[in-house]
Amino acid sequence: METLFIKGGRRLEGSVEISTAKNAILPILAASIMCDGCVKIIKCTRYLDVDNMLKILEDIGCEIAFDKDDVYIKTGNLHKSYIKDEFSKKVRSSIFMLGPMLSRFKCAKVAYPGGCNIGSRPIDLHLKGLRMLNVKIEERHGYIYCDGRNMKPNIVHLDFPSVGATENVMMASIFLKGFTTIYNAACEPEIEDLQNFLNAMGAKISGGGTSTIVVEGVERLYSGEYTPISDRIIAGTYMIACAMAQGNIRLTNVIPEHNLSLISNLKQSGCRIKMLTNEVQMFCNKRISAVPKIETQVFPGFPTDLQNQMLVLQTISRGTSIITENLFETRFKIVNELLKMGADITIHNKSAIVRGVSQLYGANVTASDLRGGAGLILAGLVAQGYTTISEAEHIDRGYKNIESDLCKLNVDIKRL
Ligand code: EPZ
Repeated sequence: METLFIKGGRRLEGSVEISTAKNAILPILAASIMCDGCVKIIKCTRYLDVDNMLKILEDIGCEIAFDKDDVYIKTGNLHKSYIKDEFSKKVRSSIFMLGPMLSRFKCAKVAYPGGCNIGSRPIDLHLKGLRMLNVKIEERHGYIYCDGRNMKPNIVHLDFPSVGATENVMMASIFLKGFTTIYNAACEPEIEDLQNFLNAMGAKISGGGTSTIVVEGVERLYSGEYTPISDRIIAGTYMIACAMAQGNIRLTNVIPEHNLSLISNLKQSGCRIKMLTNEVQMFCNKRISAVPKIETQVFPGFPTDLQNQMLVLQTISRGTSIITENLFETRFKIVNELLKMGADITIHNKSAIVRGVSQLYGANVTASDLRGGAGLILAGLVAQGYTTISEAEHIDRGYKNIESDLCKLNVDIKRL
């Protein structure tokens, strides 16, 4: 069990480079099994979720090699078209192995996926999208059996712009002769990054990052190398950290356009933010004013993956904030832990009403999911005294050595 220990009260000063995006790397790793030969993922950050995904690839026959921050994936000996329960249960991203396995093997079997316990996490949109490509799907005894021998290109309209379902349909249609069009596709930057990876390997996809994606089927995908985009959620987490603890920080390897909703809110709260080509400089020298209303939306709206971190910021703001979580029904688990630290929060249906207090107090708290755990670290930055965060392995799923990043920003944090 991992525990983090933070002494609150320091201003943030310094610079840190943002690592490549977990939610870009995961679908790219899944897609790599459709490529002949060897794929090199440059700066493939080894988050816990990424390591679990690499174990899945290894289990179905990929040869994985590491060279410093780069990962090589050889796909010549792929021999299995099903994912073991122990792996499926560990990461949500196991579900978007369906598309690549259907493209490669014309069949697939996976157990229902695991991942953060932030809601029911249904997969109906994935299965409906694949059925529109004429995949025969049976669900029995907790497994999903897919028969893709008669897959055909088609027009696929998603009832909701699901990130994973968009990725699955994109990858399942790669080799289908003709044109597949996805309407109401997710617009998250990680979708465009997946498109750019696949096109670099020989695919013909357009519209990634918009709500209409067109895939022209090709014969095969080739070997190649690719560097995933920067992690916008990690960058956003550290920007919120600076608004919490105040100070002056510089984040490099950042794509500011991927965080415009957050940046606009932080500026309105009183922070000064300078956006450069692949860098953000942030200055905050006073207690921020509350953001009256925050509603999580699909991209480019306010991201659900920054909701907990923003909620924590509001606990010490001047004023009251109403935060509504529209995507995941149990993404307020952090609230009970924040109440132990002196926050003033009440939950009403899908909303948290947060009244800013002048001080939080150190406590022993427990992380229950990835982004909630990151939020507890932010609370510890400003809490009076010491805060310990147990079950920090949740945080390691999406932040690589978060304590080393934060130490570069002058935070007094260590892993016990
Ligand atoms: C991806 O999850 C991300 N994970 C999540 O990040 C992120 O919160 C989410 O997109 C939204 O941006 C990865 O990319 C690995 P969705 P995903 O399908 O694909 C509903 C993190 O912290 N839905 O876009 O699972 C669903 O319940 C993680 O890094 C269905 O109803 O998200 C939710 O309400 C957490 N049926 C909404 O759609 C389905 O078949 C958005 O889910 C699929 C989804």
